[in-house]
Amino acid sequence: MSNYSNKSSFALEGHGYGSQSFEKPAPSNGSKWSPRNWSKKIWIIVGVVAAMIVAVIIIGAVVGTQKSAYPDYSPLSYTLQDTYHGSSFFDNFDYFTGYDPTHGFVHYVPAATAMSAQYNLTYASQSSAILRVDTTDENASTGRYSVRISSKKQYDQGLFIFDVLNSPYGCSTWNALWLADETDWPLKGEIDVMEAVNKANTGVQTTLHTSNNCKMNVKRKETGKALTTNCCNETDSNAGCGVQGPVDSYGAGFNANRGGIYAMELRDAGIRVWFFARNSIPSNIPTDVTNTTAPDPSVWPEPLADFPSTHCDISSHFKNQSIIANIDLCGDWAGSTSVYSTQSGCPGTCSNFVATNATAFDTAYWEWASWRVYTAS
Ligand SMILES: *[C@@H]1O[C@H](CO)[C@@H](O)[C@H](O)[C@H]1NC(C)=O
Ligand SMILES: *[C@@H]1O[C@H](CO)[C@@H](O)[C@H](O)[C@H]1NC(C)=O
Ligand SMILES: *[C@@H]1O[C@H](CO)[C@@H](O)[C@H](O)[C@H]1NC(C)=O
Ligand SMILES: *[C@@H]1O[C@H](CO)[C@@H](O)[C@H](O)[C@H]1NC(C)=O
Ligand SMILES: *[C@@H]1O[C@H](CO)[C@@H](O)[C@H](O)[C@H]1NC(C)=O
Ligand SMILES: *[C@@H]1O[C@H](CO)[C@@H](O)[C@H](O)[C@H]1NC(C)=O
Repeated sequence: MSNYSNKSSFALEGHGYGSQSFEKPAPSNGSKWSPRNWSKKIWIIVGVVAAMIVAVIIIGAVVGTQKSAYPDYSPLSYTLQDTYHGSSFFDNFDYFTGYDPTHGFVHYVPAATAMSAQYNLTYASQSSAILRVDTTDENASTGRYSVRISSKKQYDQGLFIFDVLNSPYGCSTWNALWLADETDWPLKGEIDVMEAVNKANTGVQTTLHTSNNCKMNVKRKETGKALTTNCCNETDSNAGCGVQGPVDSYGAGFNANRGGIYAMELRDAGIRVWFFARNSIPSNIPTDVTNTTAPDPSVWPEPLADFPSTHCDISSHFKNQSIIANIDLCGDWAGSTSVYSTQSGCPGTCSNFVATNATAFDTAYWEWASWRVYTAS
């Protein structure tokens, strides 16, 4: 067998055909490059290499499929569930009065104090609802009065339309419009729709916070800038998975346009957040709150932030969400020295600023025209 020429000559020796060894001449019809002339060793190498190539192709295809995996965001049929609007706006909320869990230099006051003529920190009229920080106390030496409200009603899913007229900002402030189950964090999830600190001149941050197994290092369709991508509270010092918006999505520039609409859709396929400046609100979002027609996100432009369900089981990570709004002062984010002084360029120490600079809080207020919640049938 010419294919095994070396071995067969050896075997011939082993079987006592004499000591005379001989080289079989190469067959005239091929060279060592012809498969017909390959040794068993070469066949094994060829086999292994072929198997490796097949494996690489399969792994590549799987990884490629995972990278391009994307959930089905096809339209849901929404109906209006709740409208937060008018002079009864704040009746639908609990006022948080405990010690600030994020360690701010703040006293969150009860509803009666917030609504009193003396403080007037929450005030609702037919046209808008205002939530603000006290601007009168010139020696708030144990922390300044502010407000944190959370909706009595909780939601597992829905389309939320926040018509925002003014966003709070200014040194020491930590401002947020968000959703969470405050009694079971982070197991029921947290969705920060709008969040910003201090001068708030770097755009909005939209962030999820969850327990383990929720990652956003996947295909996303969003206009914002992705920051850290692991949403789990145990990673990146609890930064969550954030997306940063353009400068005018928050703060002075946002307010100069009389704000705009933030829309957030929470569904099994994922969570998406859109920002529309006042002059570019899609025509299928009714501006008149008595118009109950439900908007259809499927015809809107690409969202600011996209948190698809690809590596995050949205429906198990997000439940029982109250809508929460607050203005914290200093605390874990706004008040850390590296943020307050270095990043934001704010004067002195954060708590001294809060205690003594009452009039600096004139810009520290939320104003909303309405919040509307639609649920899918
Ligand atoms: C409370 O604030 C609102 C909005 O700024 C204002 O219109 C209203 O007069 C204030 N109420 C009192 C009692 O100061
Ligand atoms: C501020 O209040 C604290 C505590 O009540 C007091 O000790 C301090 O003298 C006050 N400072 C000023 C400037 O009034
Ligand atoms: C993260 O959440 C878990 C509960 O799921 C909690 O035990 C843990 O202390 C939290 N860690 C941080 C850094 O917040
Ligand atoms: C309600 O709003 C929708 C969407 O903006 C609009 O198409 C419709 O004409 C409005 N209905 C009325 C009665 O104004
Ligand atoms: C939602 O929160 C309410 C009030 O804290 C609680 O009674 C209820 O059991 C929670 N539901 C779920 C599904 O966690
Ligand atoms: C009070 O605010 C002004 C203007 O923002 C600032 O220049 C000043 O340093 C602040 N004072 C303190 C004690 O932080």
